[in-house]
Amino acid sequence: MHARAIAATTTALLGTAALLLPLSHARADGDRGSPTVIAHRGASAYAPENTLAAVDKAAEMDIAWVENDVQRTRDGELVVLHDDSLQRTTDAEEVFPERAPWKVKDFTAAEVARLDAGSWFSPAYAGARVPTLQQYVHRVEIHHQKLLLEVKNPELYPGIEKQTLKLLSNEGWLDQRHLADRLIVQSFSADSVRTVHQLKPGVKTGFLGTPSVADLPAYAAFVDQINPSYGSISGGYVSAVHAFTGAHGRPLEVFTWTVNDENTARLVTGYGVDGIISNKPDVVRDALPSA
Ligand code: G3P
Ligand code: CA
Repeated sequence: MHARAIAATTTALLGTAALLLPLSHARADGDRGSPTVIAHRGASAYAPENTLAAVDKAAEMDIAWVENDVQRTRDGELVVLHDDSLQRTTDAEEVFPERAPWKVKDFTAAEVARLDAGSWFSPAYAGARVPTLQQYVHRVEIHHQKLLLEVKNPELYPGIEKQTLKLLSNEGWLDQRHLADRLIVQSFSADSVRTVHQLKPGVKTGFLGTPSVADLPAYAAFVDQINPSYGSISGGYVSAVHAFTGAHGRPLEVFTWTVNDENTARLVTGYGVDGIISNKPDVVRDALPSA
């Protein structure tokens, strides 16, 4: 039976009850299966964010995708850390009491490597380190996982896009296999994402934010995804994004963040999002209809 005929028959059978159901919006992939689940800063509800332990925890949960944040030390090492300061997620204040405000850009890689990035989260993770990006992608590769890499605070680190792409290339992450479906580079900075696209047009990219629908054609020239906070979107917005063709000739996708509970996971799935970024990827995965 034709899909439209099935829908008409189903509506007739369900009667008015069907009209009360929330609208379900098609994903960019044509509504095949559940949204992709991405472990935000690794499985960061269960292990210290942006550490190798958080990658391992996501792997233990069979979560294929991890998200991270990339910044740079004073001597030019790319490291994985969310804040521009080391203060919240390491013991930098204790180890270097004279170095307030403990900006990562003011510390060498050797100094960052001394810090404990696990004890603030739990004594069980004492001794976890701030990983270099090289260490991080190596661990992701070992687990056969996929990477949603965020270029964080790029205005603080001139040239970080080129440097990041060079490291990814050196580590084998820009070959066809990775470009096809194992790597996405995103940023809150449109300039940064545009730079990534210009330097390596084969890399899938995402813009973090909720641009107006009128502005979407400009973004579609250099991104494949629009990745907004879940509170800023609706089914109508997701459908509007999907209507545009992204930089690689496919409908723009939507990965939304940061969803940590079942009800919100179901809500945004109903909106038709393509991906859900979560500190509790197991909770989100288990809330979704199986693919
Ligand atoms: O990947 C989305 C999310 O990471 C963006 O926000 O602040 O957690 O980096 P933030
Ligand atoms: Ca991030």
